[in-house]
Amino acid sequence: MLASIKPLIILEPYMEKPTKKKRNICCIGAGYVGGPTMTMIASKCSEIKITVVDINKNRIDSWNSADLTKLPIYEPGLAEILSKVRNKNLFFSNDVKGAISKADIIFLSVNTPTKIKGIGKGKASNLEYLENSVREIAKYSKGHTIIVEKSTVPVKTAETIELLLNSSCLDNVNNEKKTYSVISNPEFLAEGSAIKDLEKPDRVLIGGKDQNAVKEIKELYLSWVSSEKILTTNLWSSELSKLTANAFLAQRVSSINTISAICEKTGANIAEVSRAIGTDQRIGKNFLNAGPGFGGSCFKKDILSLVYLCIYYRLDEVAKYWENVIAINNWQQDRISRLIIGNLFGTIENKKIAILGFAFKADTNDTRESPAIKISKNLLQEGAKLSIYDPKVEEEKINFELNSCFDDVACSIDKSKWKKFDSIEDTLKGADAVVLLTEWEEFKYLPWSNLFKLLRKPAWIFDTRNILDPNDFCSEGINLWINGIGEYSN
Ligand code: UDX
Ligand code: ADP
Repeated sequence: MLASIKPLIILEPYMEKPTKKKRNICCIGAGYVGGPTMTMIASKCSEIKITVVDINKNRIDSWNSADLTKLPIYEPGLAEILSKVRNKNLFFSNDVKGAISKADIIFLSVNTPTKIKGIGKGKASNLEYLENSVREIAKYSKGHTIIVEKSTVPVKTAETIELLLNSSCLDNVNNEKKTYSVISNPEFLAEGSAIKDLEKPDRVLIGGKDQNAVKEIKELYLSWVSSEKILTTNLWSSELSKLTANAFLAQRVSSINTISAICEKTGANIAEVSRAIGTDQRIGKNFLNAGPGFGGSCFKKDILSLVYLCIYYRLDEVAKYWENVIAINNWQQDRISRLIIGNLFGTIENKKIAILGFAFKADTNDTRESPAIKISKNLLQEGAKLSIYDPKVEEEKINFELNSCFDDVACSIDKSKWKKFDSIEDTLKGADAVVLLTEWEEFKYLPWSNLFKLLRKPAWIFDTRNILDPNDFCSEGINLWINGIGEYSN
């Protein structure tokens, strides 16, 4: 007898589908977050019109430039997607008022740097730009508007935004009814891989009280992100998760950098140690590359914001714990500067040092908090002359960063002490040392045997990213130092 065949019921997994509403989005802030994020939403939701506004006219002109190499930010894959949607459903404009008045949803993507004066100086986030844009929204918005916090903000910022919006309603001379829902939807994109991160996010986080507004924002993402990857939380969890995610990532970099110093003293090899510990799934293999220290606009700022929060709630020991992650980062930059000077016989006065890479990491033209800034300033302070090469960073930006004030390094730098070059050969000509600071792909395969001729012997190559092949360096008068290995001898 044949066994009775049960009818096969195929259960389709429940798929939430986006409802394709015609929406008008305004994004305030056309920076590293606003630009790529809105480009991705525009490319995935053709029924939505998006206007990205900024008070900086040059920035908007660059976003509108016909020449795609002139975009204000460099991000692999961005120009290709942008060219398909720009002036179709994605627009860049300086008309902040006009875009706000037409919007149903407004993304806040303005900068929230660390305060440099007043209460909370050096730790708290400066919410001046955020407050200014919220006041503009209060003035020009119409009807009901969903406000989305995209920029990283301290926990409880949504409360401040609501307070500002609600009290501004009291000034409303026309007596129009304006209402708002504030949502937190932090960005998790990393520069250099922003397009990939936006297209295939690990998760999308949406926090808010108004469940209808949460649903609206979720529907936007459902156009290309599956619903199980969209996490909805309360507002404060969403705001705190963003700070925490960055603090945890930064902590890993600081941890591995302390181990790289131990490797150099003991003969262990940091790449091998990273591989060995990274295979433990509980630790994982990512974010374990030793380097010159973490940079970028988020890590330091977000840890400082977390520290300020701890101080505010009298969690002093917790504040100290997180502050140490930054202290180790500064130590790593100073440690590298000191060992460069030490290996060049303790003096670098008038010696020429070539700096390869100024961006805070590869595949971006962003220099904010780049370890190259502090290391360069330390070397300049010791009397060195620098020749600098970076494939994507403009001279103007390097000049701005080298003249910035922080810690105990000199604020302004004499322009005759450094020069930016457009070719690696020109950068290396006559140099006593080469310091590799950014892991650009092109630095991994340089024709070293030809380049050695350009250097003054005995010369040193300092590989702070651990990306060079030591076999390329068996040459008379050439010394190689690799982060986490130390002086390399064949
Ligand atoms: C970070 C977070 O990754 C992202 O999720 C968040 O939204 C914004 O902040 P980003 O600053 O763009 O992104 O760069 P990230 O790739 O995180 O690197 C930060 C710094 O850590 C860089 O200076 C990088 O060189 C350094 N780093 C990273 C290491 O030194 N070693 C590693 O293994 C990884
Ligand atoms: P992020 O990395 O967070 O994107 P950026 O500094 O690259 O930071 O971008 C933030 C942008 O926000 C800047 O271009 C700045 O001019 C813009 N901005 C700041 N305040 C306002 C405002 N009130 N209205 C419009 N744009 C603003």
